[in-house]
Amino acid sequence: MSATPMRNRLWAVGGGKGGVGKSLVSLLVADGLARRGVDVVLVDADLGGSNLHTLLGIRHPSVTIGDFIERRVARLDDVAQPTSTPRLRLIAGADDLVGIANPKFGQKTRLLTHLTRLEADVVLLDLGAGTSTTTLDFFNHAAGQVVVMTPQVTSIQNAYGFIKAALYRKLTRAFSRDTEALAIIEAAADPGNGNTIASVADLRAALGADRADLATQCVSEMDLSIVVNMTRTPRDRQCGRIVCSVAQQYLDLTPQLAGVIDEDPELDGAVNRMAQFLAERGRSAARLGVYDLTTRIVQAARAPRTPTPDVPDTEDEEALA
Ligand SMILES: Nc1ncnc2c1ncn2[C@@H]1O[C@H](COP(=O)(O)OP(=O)(O)OP(=O)(O)O)[C@@H](O)[C@H]1O
Ligand SMILES: [Mg+2]
Repeated sequence: MSATPMRNRLWAVGGGKGGVGKSLVSLLVADGLARRGVDVVLVDADLGGSNLHTLLGIRHPSVTIGDFIERRVARLDDVAQPTSTPRLRLIAGADDLVGIANPKFGQKTRLLTHLTRLEADVVLLDLGAGTSTTTLDFFNHAAGQVVVMTPQVTSIQNAYGFIKAALYRKLTRAFSRDTEALAIIEAAADPGNGNTIASVADLRAALGADRADLATQCVSEMDLSIVVNMTRTPRDRQCGRIVCSVAQQYLDLTPQLAGVIDEDPELDGAVNRMAQFLAERGRSAARLGVYDLTTRIVQAARAPRTPTPDVPDTEDEEALA
């Protein structure tokens, strides 16, 4: 496995449920970072239904991530187009979705490798809804992982389900050559297993002492931040704690509560002209809602860089994709 010096910090914004505000949060954070002097590339990684460019008021992007995936453009940097915010570039999603929503393993690997080489301080991936392997692999590849949820009960369940799916995907890939371990992980991920393996602690015990270090490494590599969006009441603003405590109890994970954004009809009305909205409403409550998260990303971007391994590219992994 070769190592390439990482030029940027990769962050991903995900969450199991559709329409909870992943794209809005991605945009708010990217815009906030750029205004604080960070060179950002915002990537529409919702390969099944991109819309970030629409939020920025761009109708027909001249070049998209699809052009890179299908090798019409060789350099991903050439796909990153300037926006009206200085230091913020956008890699627009593909309008022509045929064959791109589920990229082949090799396409995905190439994309992830090139994303980490982009000329920027921070690369922010706006992921699609759901828990497809592509979405989970993008999420897991990022050094910092943001989960967006709303106070709805279904969204709380989805946020936890998404985090669990991401961790189990990571474990599955880490143990891809160990069929016995894979069977144990698969059984643990299945809620119908009679609860013999109810938590990651149980899973670690089932995997045995020889595999404990790798399982622990998978858990420790997750760096989760939770943003609760569309809140209305003080109780709503606290609901991220539920996900944190369940993730701690069952998955040994310690997500950080990183932001709260109230429901704001003006935000909803500004879809299609968010760049203008952000320029005019510099101190908007929404921007303040993700201020702590933005600060965390700025600090991580300024910390010393360490080389990271390139994405492994083996036959076994291909079978898993
Ligand atoms: N805090 C908020 N107040 C009011 N409206 C909001 C808020 N956050 C998001 N919205 C609106 O909700 C809709 C969905 O937001 P967005 O597209 O960011 O969600 P998403 O999670 O990216 O959706 P998808 O899963 O389809 O990618 C948009 O119309 C957006 O303007
Ligand atoms: Mg979206």
